[in-house]
Amino acid sequence: MSDINAKCKIRIIEGGPYLVSGNVPISEQIIIPKAGGYEFQEGRELPQSEAYALCRCGKSTNAPFCDGSHYNHNFRGKETASKNRYHERAERMEGPGVDLLDDGRCAFARFCHRRNGDAWELVEHSDAGNNREEAIRAACDCPSGRLTAVDMDGTEYENEYIPSIDIIQDPERRVSAGIFVKGHILIESADGTPYEVRNRVALCRCGESRNKPFCDAAHVAVQYLDSAVTKRGPSVKKK
Ligand code: FES
Repeated sequence: MSDINAKCKIRIIEGGPYLVSGNVPISEQIIIPKAGGYEFQEGRELPQSEAYALCRCGKSTNAPFCDGSHYNHNFRGKETASKNRYHERAERMEGPGVDLLDDGRCAFARFCHRRNGDAWELVEHSDAGNNREEAIRAACDCPSGRLTAVDMDGTEYENEYIPSIDIIQDPERRVSAGIFVKGHILIESADGTPYEVRNRVALCRCGESRNKPFCDAAHVAVQYLDSAVTKRGPSVKKK
């Protein structure tokens, strides 16, 4: 872990927010369909600071930041996710050109869908055309870290990320999505124990995940819209 990563931390508060420290840059990113797949587009600017508290209960009127509403809503936010390591939890799917690890933690970001198929289909046919490269892209772009493409020699593919946090909006589904945590930021449980440090994970911010603190796509089922969207609508910068 680099010195920069070592200073970055997310601490889960029991019944409350995620406390982020270490000057972690934060931005809003919007999921946009593009050419049979998806891409992120920059959303509105968010204030930057050395430390901040992100809402975990889904009730803040100042989303994505905590405004204390968790008290009024008696939010419990009990963590239920396994702390076993990814490689212990993930199943391996073998393909002719590349393999795929899959731990089943879906945040419904849909980046595993590419023009010629989803990550599993592309792995299954990874000896044809550019399917191998597409399968690697589909796995690497999965914000939840559910999917990892693995070469025959054991090489695992990852995008390079600096430690950073993305607040996700998903206008195609008319919902606000989770928190994309990138670049090996330590996440510490409310009981003080750490989760496995990973390059990509998606945290729940609607308060409804059954796999807290991680996103399990519950925001789609409950049609979660954060207060910023309900006040202003998702903003997308013109390119
Ligand atoms: S966690 Fe504090 S307002 Fe949601």
